[in-house]
Amino acid sequence: MTLIETVADLRAWRKTAGHVVFVPTMGALHEGHATLVREARQLAGKDARVAASIFVNPLQFGPNEDFDRYPRTLEADMAMCEAAGADMIFAPAVREVYHPDRSIKILETSLSNVLCGASRPGHFDGVCTVVAKLFNLVQPDEAVFGKKDYQQLAIIRRLVRDLDIPVVIHGIETVREPDGLAMSSRNRYLSPQERAEAPTLRQALLAAREAWLSGVTGTSRLLSLMRAHLAEHARLGREDYITLVDQQTLQPLDIARNHSLIALAVWFGKARLIDNIELSR
Ligand code: PAJ
Repeated sequence: MTLIETVADLRAWRKTAGHVVFVPTMGALHEGHATLVREARQLAGKDARVAASIFVNPLQFGPNEDFDRYPRTLEADMAMCEAAGADMIFAPAVREVYHPDRSIKILETSLSNVLCGASRPGHFDGVCTVVAKLFNLVQPDEAVFGKKDYQQLAIIRRLVRDLDIPVVIHGIETVREPDGLAMSSRNRYLSPQERAEAPTLRQALLAAREAWLSGVTGTSRLLSLMRAHLAEHARLGREDYITLVDQQTLQPLDIARNHSLIALAVWFGKARLIDNIELSR
């Protein structure tokens, strides 16, 4: 596996690489990321290349968010990527990616107004800008993203559609701990008590899906069922949002239908945990 840290070296690598499947990350990798890389390996077969990037993107962190605290674990991340089948890691410094006098960025004006975007102004503009840049740098044929960050995945699909970026986007199921908690680099911020309560998020989503499958379609009923579950079992959690939206447009729906999504974000202390479930028959 090759480690590349400069744009010049990346350009040289790309000239000889052929078909490339790409996994963008911010590092601090866990089994969820490793699954994305294994999935990319599967898509690439033995002839194409698998590239991953490790770049903590300052543009997508708000002033009070954890950019400085965000864990940086390059050695361990590289070992994990290699074991999962990556051929190349692109891990540039911030100055390699952003010119000090840069004056252009990408704005997303619809899908980012809801869910996580509502409480993180500018976050998805930062994501779109860095992903567009990474796509221009790596020039992948395909790229792999997790459904754990469902809003991000929907926005990336919109980005490549609206800007005609020739990359096929794949969405991968959320990878979970044995007790159902979605894996996240932010789980390490949880106290033992918070960690014990955190799987309730998944249980509430599963309960809502069960109710929908057995005929409950009113959004308000589904959401109050989840809130009751959380009030009882996640005493330390503080709701940021719980909502039922269309899977593509992310716009709220009054009635749950096929291809809806229930998404939630709950604060546990300093950690804001997110999860979601697709309603599909
Ligand atoms: P990061 O949070 O490191 O996530 C990288 C990729 O891993 C994303 O596609 C995310 O959805 C996926 N992922 C994280 N946890 C997962 C889990 N438990 N199961 C499945 N997939 C999971 O998302 C970002 O970085 C950044 O915003 C990025 C796209 C790299 C742009 O900076």
